[in-house]
Amino acid sequence: MSQPILKVSELTKSYGAIQAVRSVSFEVPAGEIFGVIGPNGSGKTTLFNSMLGQITPDSGRIEFKGEDVTRLGPLELNRKGVGRTFQTLQVFPKMSVMDNLLVAAQEHEGNKWSRLWSLHSNTIDERANHLIDQFRIRHVAHQRAGELSYGQQKLVDIAMAFMREPDVVLLDEPCAGVNPSLVGEIGRLLRALNEEKGGSFVVIEHNMDFVMSLCHRVMVMVEGEILAIGTPDEIRANDAVLNAYLGN
Ligand SMILES: Nc1ncnc2c1ncn2[C@@H]1O[C@H](COP(=O)(O)OP(=O)(O)O)[C@@H](O)[C@H]1O
Ligand SMILES: [Mg+2]
Repeated sequence: MSQPILKVSELTKSYGAIQAVRSVSFEVPAGEIFGVIGPNGSGKTTLFNSMLGQITPDSGRIEFKGEDVTRLGPLELNRKGVGRTFQTLQVFPKMSVMDNLLVAAQEHEGNKWSRLWSLHSNTIDERANHLIDQFRIRHVAHQRAGELSYGQQKLVDIAMAFMREPDVVLLDEPCAGVNPSLVGEIGRLLRALNEEKGGSFVVIEHNMDFVMSLCHRVMVMVEGEILAIGTPDEIRANDAVLNAYLGN
């Protein structure tokens, strides 16, 4: 079996008396779309923020492509190839869609001069144009991002995460506040990016239809622990999951 892109071992994080994440271990193989579901307060965000270097776990280990990254911060992880989208929009409202993508490519990277250089680099232009077509936002490419509908801004926001060609992207509730037709569009895009480039994704999402139709495997968390990991069919048929979560 090939080396996992992400490997989490015995991860634990407490806030005072609350054990937000308790000894959680799992692996995400390269090329997998891995879903994380669970009721509110089950530790999903704490787990996610640990994998993104936003918080330091109390114990346990996180590996990215075989390297121990447990103590790295968000910028270092991003540079290494761990991308993310936030639950809230991160677009620059006064900049055009195209400029948002160009800036996303060189965020945090190099000095002023190398940034200027990279703004004019062909490969970055090509990547932006490719994503604009793929995300079907060509008709708004030169409009200010802040003038677009929420759903279109969400697409721009997700496209921005791909400008740095990450090896894995962690998406925090990509469908939150998004209308049903756009939920389908986001699913189609992530599937295409997965099939085209073998992109790996970890997705936290409450929309169960989205998770079950998109993800290769799903992990269910309850009270900081893993209740089950399996294919969508296995998760749907899992009695413990039905009782603790899906049944509600
Ligand atoms: N910064 C924090 N300070 C104190 N408690 C927190 C903090 N973040 C999360 N928690 C607690 O940890 C538990 C897990 O929260 P969280 O990871 O946000 O779960 P989820 O994302 O699944 O809703 C909850 O009981 C929550 O109240
Ligand atoms: Mg959360």
